[in-house]
Amino acid sequence: MNKARALSGIQPTSGSFHLGNYLGAVRQWVALQESHDTYYCVVDLHALTAGIEPAKLAEATLASAAQLIALGIDPNKSTLFIQSHVPAHNQLGWIMECITGFGEASRMTQFKDKSAKSGSDRTVVGLFTYPMLQAADILLYQPQYVPVGEDQRQHIELTRDLAGRFNSTYKETFRIPEGYILKAGAKIFDLQEPTAKMSKSSSSTAGLIELLDSAGANTKKIKSATTDDGREVKFDEVKKPGISNLLTIHSAFSGQSISAIEADFDGKGYGDFKAAVADVVTAHLDPIRERTNELLQDKGELTRLLKIGSEKAAAVADETVRKVYDAVGLIPRG
Ligand code: TRP
Repeated sequence: MNKARALSGIQPTSGSFHLGNYLGAVRQWVALQESHDTYYCVVDLHALTAGIEPAKLAEATLASAAQLIALGIDPNKSTLFIQSHVPAHNQLGWIMECITGFGEASRMTQFKDKSAKSGSDRTVVGLFTYPMLQAADILLYQPQYVPVGEDQRQHIELTRDLAGRFNSTYKETFRIPEGYILKAGAKIFDLQEPTAKMSKSSSSTAGLIELLDSAGANTKKIKSATTDDGREVKFDEVKKPGISNLLTIHSAFSGQSISAIEADFDGKGYGDFKAAVADVVTAHLDPIRERTNELLQDKGELTRLLKIGSEKAAAVADETVRKVYDAVGLIPRG
């Protein structure tokens, strides 16, 4: 039986993924490879909307692909590729822009938040059309599912609306995809500010565990994580957000239940607990960092794998563009 197709994308905005990216998304992408026909894309064109420096973008794109492989995305099981290597994304992106209402695009909350922060003169148009490029990323591959975090729900809704609109305006062309909202089970918070989501954009990096950082640096960050009053290792998100976050992290890596970990640390203090969390985390991240570095040292092999992925992706995407162009009345070159 054919497996259902799933597609997702991740932005290469930094040299290293952090724990939130991994536990919140990539780990679930890895699991989906077994049951689904998976397409995973490093969305470098989207990263351009953040005004990233050229050298940084190039480095982050390769580092993202290498980390995905090191984390378990298997290029033999998934189609792993770089967005800009498949020009069909831009081709369909434009068509999507031509069927999106200005008001509709203006209501995207991510655009509103980001543009409100920088002011309209410093907001690029690419940020405004970002969701239409994302719709193209998705619809090109006719996936059934789009595994993403809760924050992408509105973009998926727009994608569904655009697919339905295209189908009814022109011709039945797209499968209407469903969001597959990833379990928030492993929602990871900032170590310093345990009520805010762990994110690249937080004010300091002291609360951020980066996958490619040294074991020493990450141990130090975990040991200086904000804890709470009292000295009991107990899960209580309201009264003990710091300890609860560390319990979530421990459990995500060790596979032990929260209550088993609480029992282990019964009568012991925060210090012992933090040292144990640091051990569990670094034991898991050490081999991932090593594998990533190996891949980055052998760019030939990484490039070869990505080329295979983009060729597979382009074959599917080009076929969709051909149908779309035909449906809207763009004539073939002949
Ligand atoms: N906007 C997504 C994010 O910030 C990234 C993204 C771009 C994406 N294209 C996509 C996710 C297509 C899923 C499918 O996380």
